[in-house]
Amino acid sequence: MKKIVSDLNVKGKKVLIRVDFNVPMKNGVITDDTRVRAALPTIKYVIDNGGKAIVFSHLGRVKAVEDIAKNDITPVAKRLEELIGKPVKFVNATRGAELEAAAANLKEGEILMFQNTRYEDFDATTNTETKKESKNNAELGAYWASLGEVFVNDAFGTAHRAAASNVGIASNVKETAAGFLLAKEIEFIGGAVDNPVRPYVAILGGAKVSDKIGVIEALLDKADKVLIGGAMMFTFLKAQGYNIGASRCEDDKLDLAKELLAKGKGKLILPVDAVCNKAFEDTKGTVKTIDKFDADDMGLDVGPATLDLFKKELTGAKTVVWNGPMGVFEMKNYAAGTIGVCELLANLSGAKTIIGGGDSAAAAEQLGYASKMSHISTGGGASLEYLEGKELPGIACVDDK
Ligand code: 3PG
Repeated sequence: MKKIVSDLNVKGKKVLIRVDFNVPMKNGVITDDTRVRAALPTIKYVIDNGGKAIVFSHLGRVKAVEDIAKNDITPVAKRLEELIGKPVKFVNATRGAELEAAAANLKEGEILMFQNTRYEDFDATTNTETKKESKNNAELGAYWASLGEVFVNDAFGTAHRAAASNVGIASNVKETAAGFLLAKEIEFIGGAVDNPVRPYVAILGGAKVSDKIGVIEALLDKADKVLIGGAMMFTFLKAQGYNIGASRCEDDKLDLAKELLAKGKGKLILPVDAVCNKAFEDTKGTVKTIDKFDADDMGLDVGPATLDLFKKELTGAKTVVWNGPMGVFEMKNYAAGTIGVCELLANLSGAKTIIGGGDSAAAAEQLGYASKMSHISTGGGASLEYLEGKELPGIACVDDK
């Protein structure tokens, strides 16, 4: 069991809180603040219990001079202030006298946030990429640790990265605990990995087999059934000898798909129909069984018979993990498969339903099913690596109880 923030005595202490505020932005405006909301319980707990919260995160990737202004985290600090309803003191630096003074002068119940931790990945004076944050530079981790007394890691989305702002700080402070968000991700995703209540069914979608190889292999070992949708279904179907027409396919992954099919015999369930169009556009498609594709048919979603099949496979499931949309859900004519899976999961009684982050989480949110799921992960890459059964450095660095 990992130590969590409520196991710490935070009263009067400067509490370093690593969050993942790597939110999508368009022209400096946040387009989805889920990750900020998700970190609020931890920050609130710290300030409500007399702690002094020092909050920080990365935003985007900073590899060149033009990435600096683009990834300024100031709008995110403002959003935190709005959502938490308290002032957030912001220091526009990642180190230096102003930051040190602000941390030292913080009072109980106050919140300080500093600039994007990945500003430390690039040295603007020499115009070189140093990757101090991303490669866990020892001096940087020790420096940030020196700003506080205890460390709370609540950045699940970054837990697959060993950075100065998570692992580096943890190795330089006396106590490291998980925030409530990280603890919830450990409970649900970690629970499915280590101790799933069976039957355990995984649903995997998305475009590319190559993105999901590790997780498909791991789930073929661990889950009772693995249902495949999304464009990657066509690589599997072609590997089985079907004519997939003009559908997207990774031809260099056909041998791998054959291996996975052999390994997953009886477990790996493929779609039996798809909604096809003649072009990649949002016009009404035609439902075709997978043995009836014409050369110019492009499969853009799973079909209704596939949803019936998935429903049958999900009946009685006690743990369900879903990662990756079933079709091009951004196009309204090709969203039915993804909506259908959301509905199937929402209506399963007595099952733990866990949505991996990224597109499937966005789909569940956008389509209005978020509150019906047991857990929606805030991690993209992190949730995939966790489901693969890998040890995540951002979790490993948290103290045990
Ligand atoms: C994410 O959004 O998946 C995390 O914040 C990690 O971001 P990164 O892939 O740039 O390390």
